[in-house]
Amino acid sequence: MKQLHHKSPTHAPSPAHAPASKTSKPARPGPRTWVGYLLLEQRLLFVLLGALIATSFFLLRPYIFSLSPSNVTDRSPIFSFAARSSASRVPAGFRPPPRRVVVTGGAGFVGSHLVDRLLEQGDSVIVVDNFFTGRKENVAHHLRNPRFELLRHDVVEPILLEVDRIYHLACPASPVHYKYNPIKTIKTNVMGTLNMLGLAKRIGARFLLTSTSEVYGDPLEHPQKETYWGHVNPIGVRSCYDEGKRTAETLTMDYHRGGGVAVRIARIFNTYGPRMCLDDGRVVSNFVAQALRRQPMTVYGDGKQTRSFQYVSDLVAGLMALMESDHIGPFNLGNPGEFTMLELAEVVKQTIDPMSTIEFKPNTADDPHMRKPDITKAKQLLGWEPKVSLKEGLPLMVTDFRQRILDE
Ligand SMILES: NC(=O)c1ccc[n+]([C@@H]2O[C@H](COP(=O)([O-])OP(=O)(O)OC[C@H]3O[C@@H](n4cnc5c(N)ncnc54)[C@H](O)[C@@H]3O)[C@@H](O)[C@H]2O)c1
Repeated sequence: MKQLHHKSPTHAPSPAHAPASKTSKPARPGPRTWVGYLLLEQRLLFVLLGALIATSFFLLRPYIFSLSPSNVTDRSPIFSFAARSSASRVPAGFRPPPRRVVVTGGAGFVGSHLVDRLLEQGDSVIVVDNFFTGRKENVAHHLRNPRFELLRHDVVEPILLEVDRIYHLACPASPVHYKYNPIKTIKTNVMGTLNMLGLAKRIGARFLLTSTSEVYGDPLEHPQKETYWGHVNPIGVRSCYDEGKRTAETLTMDYHRGGGVAVRIARIFNTYGPRMCLDDGRVVSNFVAQALRRQPMTVYGDGKQTRSFQYVSDLVAGLMALMESDHIGPFNLGNPGEFTMLELAEVVKQTIDPMSTIEFKPNTADDPHMRKPDITKAKQLLGWEPKVSLKEGLPLMVTDFRQRILDE
């Protein structure tokens, strides 16, 4: 029994259970120090290999992540470290990334000058225009620019675009044009503004409305501050424009309060400059075109009504400052210099032809007697004020009108 137990390997005791026997144990090669342990057990190779991998990883980490921008997210501390360290290398004076901007009415007078400036500062611009009063010629010089797009579209119909900013200018602006089809004018002001505000809400874009000094009507307060609520005839021939813009302002504020849309409101006073329609019935373009054609300049009424005249580059600077400001408005954007119609006719005469004559005609209905912006608010909050005087700006407009009248 003793023998059988010895021979059978299945029943052989494991070394762990075997009784310690000095005779069966192999002789030790030498003293068991840690050096000997590493050398003899071949652990050294693995320790060195591990140290090499770790060192390489920490040395190469910044390069690995900067070469692979898709990895730079803020999901893990390592990736956000890489993102932060590259951000800290941004040089001083770095400008924010270019924006995608839509300008409705961008083929018109003011819109086309705004588009020039936006493209100049590096933005991508989409012009939406139905060419009712706008002209392709006003933006033709951008047609080859890859950051520019021109869409024929009526804002009365909805449109879906992906942009960061919406400058909403689409609306006929001169009395001749907005009285031509008053129902269409009010539709443009109400439905067009609703559509563009709806778009702003849907895509989270900032929205700027170009309203007008006409919201003050025939003002009883002079000069006009933004706090003045106006004196407007709601059923007159100008109401499609005046009341249309007042409704557009209401919609803009309701989309802000109710829909959380970031909005801006500019109330623009009379503006002039190159690219105005030649025969749009606005007083500066009328006088200039008539004087250049050697026709008498038409003064409606007694010519003592006053207006202020702002050069278009000043307006564009104001619109862009307002859009990027933290203020909703409304802001008066106009030149506070005040001229009677007769004084304006005199400046035009001196600029174009001292022999020009004046012809008086009865005044039109609801023509405001006086108009002059108080721009204290814009000066204080936007740091904006007009720089170009009538005597400086008028010759620039005359050069453009002269060329176009010669081409007729
Ligand atoms: N120029 C000024 O003195 C003045 C003063 C006050 C307010 N504004 C406002 O500034 C904006 C621009 O005025 P402007 O002087 O350049 O006039 P404008 O007539 O030259 O430009 C208006 C543009 O809107 C486009 N448009 C009109 N209805 C449209 C529609 N339904 N859909 C798409 N496009 C349409 C026209 O084709 C045109 O290109 C207007 O909203 C106007 O009310 C201008």
